[in-house]
This record gives sequence, C-alpha cells and structure tokens, in this order.
Amino acid sequence: MEYSRRAALAAALTLSGLSLSLTPAMAQDVNAGKQVFAQCAACHTATAVNGVGPGLLGIVGRKSAASPGFRYSPAFKRANLTWDEKSLDAYVADPQKVVPGNLMPFSGIADAKQRADLIAYLKTVK
Ligand code: HEC
Repeated sequence: MEYSRRAALAAALTLSGLSLSLTPAMAQDVNAGKQVFAQCAACHTATAVNGVGPGLLGIVGRKSAASPGFRYSPAFKRANLTWDEKSLDAYVADPQKVVPGNLMPFSGIADAKQRADLIAYLKTVK
C-alpha cells in the first residue's frame, strides 16, 4: 500500500517535471526525436558517459572528438568540426560523407523530418 502510493507520487512528479521542461510548441518534435535517438542509444548515452560511441552530452555546440576519455578514430581526430544543427544533420544523414573513414557503424537516417526531430532532442541534452 505504502509502496504503491509512493510509486504513484514519483510517477506524477516525473510527469510534471517533464511537461514543465518542454514548451508546448516544441514538445512534439523533441518527443519524436527522443524516439529517433533510440537508434543511437545502443552506442551513445545522452550523458557524458562514453559507451561504444562517445557520450553526447552538450553535443550541439561542441567541437568534434571532444568527449573526455573516448578513443576516437584518426579520421575523427582530424575532422575539426563544430557540431551545429547543419553539421549534425549532414553527419546523421550520411556519416561517411561528412567524416570519411570514421568508425561509427551506422549508415545514417534518410528521413529529414526524423533528423530534425532528433536534433531538436539533442539540443535539450545539456
Ligand atoms: C553501432 C554504434 C553506433 C550507433 C548506432 C551510432 N553511433 Fe554515433 N558514434 C559511434 C562511434 C564508435 C563513434 C566514434 C567514431 C570514430 O571515432 O570514428 C560515433 C561518433 C558520433 C558522433 C561524433 C561525436 C563527437 O564527439 O564528435 C556523433 C555526433 C554521433 N556519433 C551521433 C550519432 C547519432 C545521432 C546516432 C543515431 C542516429 C548515432 N551516432 C548512432 C557509434 C555509433
């Protein structure tokens, strides 16, 4: 009894926290983008923690190959990009075109709307 009431309270707090942190106009895109991020989450966290791929905390506005402790490929070490909406969009569309020879085993997302939603979500990850 006590436990389920606490669980319900925790769930209610989590939900209200989420709705407060998103403005209504962008909520849909960010939520859709979070779903798209599921494709990345096998290798990337939305935190500073590195996995198979580098942690993506603060990726929008970050220099490329800048996650502390991650062993980037020579291709990425040479890339010298600043990740903004444009470069991320191009990279997620076709990773090998933007950073030739990189070791990210992912072929890209062809759908422009999915990429835009994903980047809207990545902007909230900071
Ligand atoms: C199967 C694993 C895998 C998947 C899936 C994957 N990545 Fe990666 N990603 C990597 C690896 C590994 C690297 C580093 C590659 C290198 O050093 O050549 C990387 C690098 C990156 C970088 C460069 C980060 C930096 O610090 O400069 C970005 C941005 C990125 N991935 C975004 C994404 C996004 C967005 C998705 C989903 C659409 C995704 N990745 C899916 C493994 C993955």
